Order: sequence, then C-alpha cells, then structure tokens
Amino acid sequence: MANEHVLVVGAGQMGAGIAQVALTAGLRVTLVDVAKDAVDKGAGRIRSGLGKLREKGKLDEGAERAALGRLTTATSARDVRDVDVAIEAATENEELKKRIFQDLDAVVRPGGVLATNTSSIPITRIAAATKRPDAVIGMHFMNPVPVMQLVELIRGAATSDATFDRTRSLSQAMGKTVDYARSPAEDFASLTVEFETDDGTTVIGEATTSWSFVGAGLRLSAELLGPEYSMAWNSLDSPLKLFFSRAVQGQAGEDLVEKQNAEIGLMPVVAGEAAVYGYEAEDRHFVRAFLGREAPELTFHDGLDVVKLLMTAYMSAEQGRTLDFPPQGLAAFVPAVAKGTWKPGP
Ligand SMILES: NC(=O)c1ccc[n+]([C@@H]2O[C@H](COP(=O)([O-])OP(=O)(O)OC[C@H]3O[C@@H](n4cnc5c(N)ncnc54)[C@H](O)[C@@H]3O)[C@@H](O)[C@H]2O)c1
Repeated sequence: MANEHVLVVGAGQMGAGIAQVALTAGLRVTLVDVAKDAVDKGAGRIRSGLGKLREKGKLDEGAERAALGRLTTATSARDVRDVDVAIEAATENEELKKRIFQDLDAVVRPGGVLATNTSSIPITRIAAATKRPDAVIGMHFMNPVPVMQLVELIRGAATSDATFDRTRSLSQAMGKTVDYARSPAEDFASLTVEFETDDGTTVIGEATTSWSFVGAGLRLSAELLGPEYSMAWNSLDSPLKLFFSRAVQGQAGEDLVEKQNAEIGLMPVVAGEAAVYGYEAEDRHFVRAFLGREAPELTFHDGLDVVKLLMTAYMSAEQGRTLDFPPQGLAAFVPAVAKGTWKPGP
C-alpha cells in the first residue's frame, strides 16, 4: 500500500479532504480539477488542513513537509501516469462521471482500482462506462473527510472481491475504519414468539429487532449532521422522498442521498409507508390521548413488555436456545451487541 499513487479527480470540498487523508497516510497523490485555479484552491485547502493538524500537535513539521512533498496537481486526468488507485470526487453528474471514468480506464494501471465518491449515482451505471467494471467501486467518504472516520464501500453488480479487499485496505490505511466484528454498525435479529391469547388459542408471532440505531455505523455517519438529518434518513418519511430524482434542481451535493440500492431494485420501497402500515392512525390516536380525549390503547407498560421481549430475543440468540418468557436474569441483562462484544458465529 505504501508508496501507491492515488489520483484524486475533483479538488472541491470532498476531493481536497480525500487527498489530504491519502497524503497523511503516506501515499503519493495527484489532485486533478478542470482549471488551474480550482486545483490551486484544492491544494490550498490541503495546506491549511495539514497546518491545522500541526497546530493541534497531530502532525510534526517534518511529516507535514513530507506529505506536501508527495502532492502533485494537474488539470487533466488523461495526463497522469502510473496510477494505482483513482478516487473520483467531481461534481455529482452522471454524464460527467461516466466521461471521467472513461479517462480513468485509460490511466489506471491494470489491476488498479477505479473508485467513485458519488452520493447517489448507481455504481453499476458508472462502471458500465469502463472496460473493467470489476475494478469499479463506490468509496463514499463523509464530509468533512479528515474528521469523519466512516467510509462506505459500495459494490456495483460486477465489482470483484479483489477490488473490494484492496479498497478496504486502502480505507484502513487512510485511517477510515469501522471494525464491524467488534462494533457492529447494524445487526438484525429475527424473533419468533409463541404465546397464548386470552381465549386459549396458541399463536406464533414474528418480530425483528436491530441495534443499529445506537450502532457505530450510524453514529459515525450521522453525528456531525445532527439528529434531524438522521431522523429523515432513517425514518419512514415517504413517499420515496429519500430516493431523490436524477434530475436535481440547484447545486448537487448532500441533498443527494445514497440510495442506489433502491433504484437498481435491490431494496423494496413502499410508497406512503406511514399510511400503509397504519402509523398515521396510530399518531392521531396518540394526539387524542395526549389531549385527554381518549384512553391510550398502549401504555408505558406495553412498551416495557416489548423491550423485554426484544431483550429476550438477544438472550436467546446468545444462548442458542428457545427461552420461556420472561427468562431469569432479564432485568440485569445487557446484550453483547450493546457492549460491542457480539461475535455471531458463521
Ligand atoms: N459534500 C458532501 O457532503 C459530500 C459527501 C459525500 C459525497 N459527496 C460526493 O462527492 C462528490 C464531490 O462533491 P463535493 O461536495 O466535493 O463537490 P464540489 O463542488 O466541492 O467539488 C467538485 C469539484 O469537481 C470539479 N470537477 C468538475 N468536473 C470535473 C472534471 N471533469 N475533472 C476534474 N474535476 C472536475 C469541480 O470543478 C469542483 O472543484 C460528489 O459526487 C458528491 O455527491 C459529497
């Protein structure tokens, strides 16, 4: 990995940040933008970013000088040679990115990686502009790149394991790492409950639970953006509001949310989920109950019972057996996934 040559295309907010973390990781970087003033501005951002690190004592003067010594700039990707990994962070426009990827196809060494930082364009479509879709991958950094620890790696339909592994190593070398084995970003537990109704009928119910809302992945990607963004991102806000159209009005940027999976059919999307699942009626009932006009159908104790059931599900998963409800020791039980020690078996 050391001494690899990384080509960063686009010297804006994201490109300059990506170039900076690649430089501090000891890599050689060429930063490209369409015009000299744009690329100079990007290089200026990197200088000031490294300067701040030095002022904070996170980088000594020698390391700062060495990092800047590994930076080259250019105004066309086509002029750059011997590229091991290209990371594209140009303006969010599909046609533009496809043209850039044709150039990258020509300048990246055989066996190299062609990564894109796109927020919303399907990797498979960008990859189709090249003759080596197996080498194309999404490498979605968070803004501001030098501060945010998370990078999301997104496979296209043809992305090879070798490309994925190499990109993951590169992300780790750049200090961007989430060890999902130790701090799960998202777990998904499925629970089967057998119970008897008031009239004596045996019923089998199913539920799912997830620790993701406190997990590392969500926290790392949302902490700087605040709860409102996180809520919109993770909520049932519909219909399809989160799956932005390709025809973006105004400046492209963070208003494009990464939902390629939905667009290429890998994820079911229910329009108007809140109404379909009855949440609207539930919300109205809540308001009426709050105003004192109706007795609440569900109380605090119902909520507590649900939590107890879900905790029992975690306990059951850890012990690998069916448990009678409520199991012993439930009140003091803290799931391994909450402690960050959960190691699910194969
Ligand atoms: N800003 C964010 O919060 C954020 C977060 C994650 C991902 N992204 C994605 O990163 C990419 C870049 O976003 P940004 O916020 O840095 O935008 P930006 O506008 O700050 O920078 C984009 C740069 O690309 C340059 N550019 C345009 N065409 C080019 C070409 N042909 N060759 C080289 N450079 C070219 C522009 O001149 C500009 O300097 C987008 O795909 C965006 O969706 C942005």
